[in-house]
Amino acid sequence: MHSLSPKIHDLFAQQTGIKIDYQPYQVSSDALDIFIRDFFNDGGDGLNITLPHKIACIKSADDKSSLVRKIGAANILIHNKDSNKIIADSTDGNGFVEDLHCKSIKLVQTNVLILGAGGAAQSIIPAIQNEEPANIFIDNRSPGKIQPMIERFLSSGDNNEGPLSPLSDLKSFSGNHHIKKGMQLVINTTSAGFDGPFQWDGDLYTNEKTVFYDLSYSNANGITPFLQWASQYSDQCYDGIGMLINQAALSFEMWTGTKPDTKITAAEMLNE
Ligand code: ATR
Repeated sequence: MHSLSPKIHDLFAQQTGIKIDYQPYQVSSDALDIFIRDFFNDGGDGLNITLPHKIACIKSADDKSSLVRKIGAANILIHNKDSNKIIADSTDGNGFVEDLHCKSIKLVQTNVLILGAGGAAQSIIPAIQNEEPANIFIDNRSPGKIQPMIERFLSSGDNNEGPLSPLSDLKSFSGNHHIKKGMQLVINTTSAGFDGPFQWDGDLYTNEKTVFYDLSYSNANGITPFLQWASQYSDQCYDGIGMLINQAALSFEMWTGTKPDTKITAAEMLNE
């Protein structure tokens, strides 16, 4: 099993002087619940959870954050020692937004386009909404999945939230004046391009200033199929390695109380 996360947490541990033992585990769906229970019963402090277990792991937790209630998925389990409870939370969306901050990309009053309407798209929407863009547009190969996802994020159960940005189906807005200034950020959350070159049906309203961000990352100099395609439109193209490092830093902080400096870690990863 190949994962960059042990290396990232090793760099965090060196940087902060906090010793952690972070190991990768490959666990089948059938064994997930018992694995999680044994891990915490044996004194484990926390787990990161990745695909395909981000939804199923919630059942093994005693409680879940309001964010997990909203997005229906978790990427971290934390043992709260005071309550002796296992809490499911998610650092994916905030990790994504923190990486945008590291790259000095501001979303306030911008148009953001998300390609895809699966779990990865859902995991980042609340964090993007918190940045108060003018509009968030969604496009997806299967158009029927867009509206149910939009409704999920417009009807919030929380009372203490900031303003929610308008969330819209891109195709139903074509020709609208909101779209005329184009997209400042296009985010690929899909697996399109994993088996052949990336291509997308329909106008994405990009211009030479559009930033392209792929949630996937690549060992080939950060060039994913989506970014290879996007490079014909823009020279601001980023893969998801920064999001991976930032969500890991937020996880490390939840477990240890100390937040590593992700810029140092990103530089160290590049020098490897
Ligand atoms: P994840 O949890 O990683 O988001 P998912 O829930 O299976 O995985 O969602 C995958 C996303 O990639 C969906 O938006 C999917 O589009 P559909 O809803 O039409 O299935 C999108 N996707 C996968 N392969 C694609 C392709 N070849 N072209 C366009 N979109 C694709």
